[in-house]
Amino acid sequence: MKEELITIQKDAIEEIKNVTSEAELLKVKSNYLGKEGKIPAITKNIKDLSIEEKKEIGSLSGKVRGDIETAIKNKMEEIKSKNTKKITFDHTIPVDEKIGSLSPVTIVAKKVTEALEKMGFIIVSGPEKEDDYHNFEALNIPADHPARDMQDTYWLSTGELLRTHTSPCQVRAMEKYSAPLRIAAPGRCFRNEDIDACHENTFFQLEGMVIDENVSINNLIYVMKNILTEVFETEVDVRLRPGFFPFVEPGFELDVKCLICGGKGCPTCKNSGWLELLPCGMVHPNVLKMSGIDPEKYSGFAFGIGLTRLAMMKYKIKDIRELNSGDTRVLGQFGIK
Ligand code: DAH
Repeated sequence: MKEELITIQKDAIEEIKNVTSEAELLKVKSNYLGKEGKIPAITKNIKDLSIEEKKEIGSLSGKVRGDIETAIKNKMEEIKSKNTKKITFDHTIPVDEKIGSLSPVTIVAKKVTEALEKMGFIIVSGPEKEDDYHNFEALNIPADHPARDMQDTYWLSTGELLRTHTSPCQVRAMEKYSAPLRIAAPGRCFRNEDIDACHENTFFQLEGMVIDENVSINNLIYVMKNILTEVFETEVDVRLRPGFFPFVEPGFELDVKCLICGGKGCPTCKNSGWLELLPCGMVHPNVLKMSGIDPEKYSGFAFGIGLTRLAMMKYKIKDIRELNSGDTRVLGQFGIK
């Protein structure tokens, strides 16, 4: 038994010396020290020895096991240190020319918010995970209202949802600031959409709201025109159509002539020549009332700009999917800083 143990030790040390990978080393470890390994195969017979032999073999097997364990540990450290490449960082190397740029959506959002700030708006934000009350109910869209069908929603198991628009920010702002107020809230929205060149399940909007005494449709049109001039830095053709949104009355759709095809028709504008860009309207009295504002005293307007759409128009991006694709060439081709 003694010789056996000594041979085992010699073999093990030799094998450990020759392995080159962590996997091989673990295999050797299990062959010698594992439950079915060579050392336990011997030590399990110690119980049948005389007291004297028990002492001798017991202590020898303990030493052999210890030596093998130490050899394995040292070898493991050696392998690991070889695998860790030394990373050095040279601060004197010139910066790669390809530094990042802002997303077209971020740039457009900045332009719009800057234009609004000049007109006295404050910029606020709201949660992307919303509750039914703020996303629908308080916007005059009760549970059984057909308008809910227009915004297919990602519901969470908690009963909350991913907000389908930035309009809940109107409600949160009214709750927080009451009247008068001028707010703008840019942010990400989500809808359960079939994805194509002009629909995405994740997109950006900017909500705006003004509440004061004697606010009129003229004020609304003035603000909308100001924003679009700022963003496109040129005159754009717009048209106003009546539009239905339960939280405004009257409601409008402000369309922009498609800047990609110039109005001739293309996939982005669904061949209509126009792009729905700016739904807006005068705030419904129910909405004011629900947030504790007296509709006899105050009136207001609200608008929801499709920031993603606006970026597509401004930078002539034909396919909305490119914006969420993570392909850096999308940014690179615009040379946007
Ligand atoms: N929240 C609406 C949507 O996503 C857009 C909208 C329409 C916002 C009219 C408004 C508004 O503030 O007045 O479809």
